[in-house]
Amino acid sequence: MGKEGERVGILVISYGSRAAAVIDALSRSENYDVRFYVADKQRNPFNVRHAAKHVVIPDLDVGKICDFVEANKNEIDFGICCPEKPIIEGVRDVVESKTGVAMICPTKKYAIEESKISQRQLLGECCAGANPEFKVFHHAGYSSVSEVKRAVWGFLDEIGNEVAVKPDKPAAGKGVGVWGDHFTSREQLFEHFSSIFDSGSDVLIEEKMEGEESSFQAFCDGKRISVLPDTRDYKRAFDADLGQNTGGMGSYKDNKDWLPFMEEKDREEEERLVLKIFKKLRGNGSNEELRGMPFYVAFMHTAKGAKILEINSRPGDPEIQNVLPVLKNDFVDVCFRMIEGNLSRVECEAKATVVTYAVPMDYGGYREKYSGDKRVDLSGAYALQEKYGDNLRIYPGSMELREDGHTYALGSRTVCTVGVGENIAEAREISLDGIRNIDGALWNRGDIGAEYHIQRSVRRMERGAFRGLEV
Ligand code: GLY
Repeated sequence: MGKEGERVGILVISYGSRAAAVIDALSRSENYDVRFYVADKQRNPFNVRHAAKHVVIPDLDVGKICDFVEANKNEIDFGICCPEKPIIEGVRDVVESKTGVAMICPTKKYAIEESKISQRQLLGECCAGANPEFKVFHHAGYSSVSEVKRAVWGFLDEIGNEVAVKPDKPAAGKGVGVWGDHFTSREQLFEHFSSIFDSGSDVLIEEKMEGEESSFQAFCDGKRISVLPDTRDYKRAFDADLGQNTGGMGSYKDNKDWLPFMEEKDREEEERLVLKIFKKLRGNGSNEELRGMPFYVAFMHTAKGAKILEINSRPGDPEIQNVLPVLKNDFVDVCFRMIEGNLSRVECEAKATVVTYAVPMDYGGYREKYSGDKRVDLSGAYALQEKYGDNLRIYPGSMELREDGHTYALGSRTVCTVGVGENIAEAREISLDGIRNIDGALWNRGDIGAEYHIQRSVRRMERGAFRGLEV
């Protein structure tokens, strides 16, 4: 571990508000004087303000990131990668081998987010019960359209039409088609299937999982994992989940490790399953290639028990923004411990947090088109920090500081506000107050962490719908 009080240089590979939350948490270190070296998708105003050196790499190309590290390697002690693309493309392998700078993220081999099919196969080997029914359609297995169509039909005959059709590779939430949402007939389903299969990708068809979702995150040093509290992501645009899938419109965390619609035993089951996956990949000793956050697991609590929707090998966005503001440990120490292989239990304050995203008018189908001014002024929201102190955090995401000194919304989720409170209602009010004081043509969901939404989840779990009983 570095000596306390010493200067530490940290590379942060940034995409979105998640990286601003990481930089914020690291910059609050009481033990270290941190200097940031940020490889960013654009001139994120928060990151630019905090960086000793800031470089824009719009495609987050691993070679260009590595050049930036090489040029500053004498000042950088370690790096942390937030988005999946560079992790999948091997940023850790390349940076560590070419520059010697230790990276906090899994190696390419353990970027299990890369393949949904491999994830299902891995789960099949260590916790098959967490898998839904599924079938893999490999390109090599079929010589004609009619042959693959017969195989798809045959699988639907076995498990029913209620399925999800997924490309093997991550497609930022796009590409996944779900019965009832994206198609309501087998012909439409096959059209969706073909749009993926014909592009050369292998396809996974799996039983549609109905239930209540939770997001599980953990830090890992290769020897052990240190678990973080559960969060609930709101993937859909529009209140009451009526819109299309997005990158995530917001999320909440309760003041304990599990969510209001869960019981402690549901959380224990999640931990049991994640430990099984970890042990399968780690083996009996240690596997430092897993360092970072290799297990951000999306769970679905269903009538057949806890199932795994997907595993990501990075912090969740917005889920990590729920956690880092209430981390009790010095986050720089946690990072050193991950690198040195002596990670211990991390602790969070017993506080609730609510993250609300403000997004562009044409994001998530709110408007077909928006051609107006994209300037966004966060000063009104920042001014509220006099009232709320550290209980309000503001993390710019897809926004850019331009030469004119103003900030502008780009195409994706613009900025999130994090409210911290004794309970979810208090945290939500602070988060929404932050959102209300942003000046700009943006929209947001108003019901992230709302009592009606939480109670709906509670009722669905209580009725036994997701604990194996008939509704
Ligand atoms: N919250 C969804 C994600 O980070 O992938």
